[in-house]
Amino acid sequence: MSLVKWIDFPERGDERGCLTVVESTKSIPFEIKRVYYLTNLSPDLPRGFHAHKELEQVAVCISGSCNLLLDNGQEKQWVTLDSPSKAIRIEPMVWHEMKDFSHGCVFLVFASDFYNESDYIRDYEEFIRLVK
Ligand code: TYD
Repeated sequence: MSLVKWIDFPERGDERGCLTVVESTKSIPFEIKRVYYLTNLSPDLPRGFHAHKELEQVAVCISGSCNLLLDNGQEKQWVTLDSPSKAIRIEPMVWHEMKDFSHGCVFLVFASDFYNESDYIRDYEEFIRLVK
């Protein structure tokens, strides 16, 4: 299974602007239970630094850009999110970090479940122990 899984959202833009469509269980490979977004981000303050035990997520920069690390304990890859129609899956048990947020970046996430702190693994050594 590859670590990096891109999802292209259909675009219906025209001369009036860009329209991007996101449909639960279609382009998003699960039922969306929660949407959250990060705004007012600082290029000097990276975020994330956790994995989820069960949560499925799809992330996209609907404005601006940032770099995202995906790490499954065997392979690490940085990707750049810089398009409102190019999203990335963050699967369970994938450590992720985000950095280099551009001015005005809006980082939006579709999640398969409600917020639950007990689903987080926030300690990298614990993550490595659990994935090995
Ligand atoms: P966190 O997931 O640690 O942020 P990031 O990965 O972007 O660095 O969340 C930051 C805080 O917000 C933390 O106290 C948990 C809280 N939070 C919620 O209450 N609900 C949510 O849906 C999310 C994503 C976070």
